[in-house]
Amino acid sequence: MSVTTANKRRLPGDFAPSQAKAQAAALRVNHAGEYGAGRIYAGQLAVLKHHACAEELTHMAAQEQVHLAAFERILPAYGVRPTLLMPLWHVGGWLLGACTAAMGARAAMACTVAVESVITEHYNEQLTNGAVDVALHPEITKFRDEEMEHHAIGLAHDAALTPLYAPLTASIRSICRAAIALCARI
Ligand SMILES: [Fe+2]
Ligand SMILES: [Fe+2]
Repeated sequence: MSVTTANKRRLPGDFAPSQAKAQAAALRVNHAGEYGAGRIYAGQLAVLKHHACAEELTHMAAQEQVHLAAFERILPAYGVRPTLLMPLWHVGGWLLGACTAAMGARAAMACTVAVESVITEHYNEQLTNGAVDVALHPEITKFRDEEMEHHAIGLAHDAALTPLYAPLTASIRSICRAAIALCARI
C-alpha cells in the first residue's frame, strides 16, 4: 500500500492517516540512517584505508550502499520525503567515522557496535509495531540481519577493548537516538 492512497478514499486494509504518518517517519529515519551509516564508514576508511580492518569496513560500507539504494527507491514509492537534515548527516556521519578511526581501529569498531545496535533496535521496532507496510518487511528484515552482522564484526574486532568503551558507545548511541528523533520529525 502506498501512503499516497491516504489522500484518496480509504479501502479496507489501507492505513489510517496516523499510521501513514508513523510509516513516513520510520521510512525517513531508515533512509537517513543508511545514509549516515555509509558516511560513517567512509570517514573510517579515509583514516584506516591501509589497516587490516579495511576489508571489513569496505564490506560493511558496500552493504550500507545497498540498503540506502533500497530506501532511495522506497521513499518516493510511498510518497515520503527525505529528512531536511541530510547535509548534517553528510558531515556529521563522516566526522564521527573519521574521529573514532583516528582513536584507533578498536574505537572505530566500538562506533560500529554502538551505531549498529541502535539501527537494529530501530528496525526491530518497525517490524513489530505495525508502523511499516508488511510488503516491506522481508527487505527490512534482511537489512536488520546485516546490521546485526556488522555489530558482530565490531565485537569480533575487539571493540570492547577500546579504552572508555562504555562511555564512548553510550555517547554514540545517544547521538544516534537523537538523530532518529530529529529525522522522524524534520
Ligand atoms: Fe544499513
Ligand atoms: Fe550497518
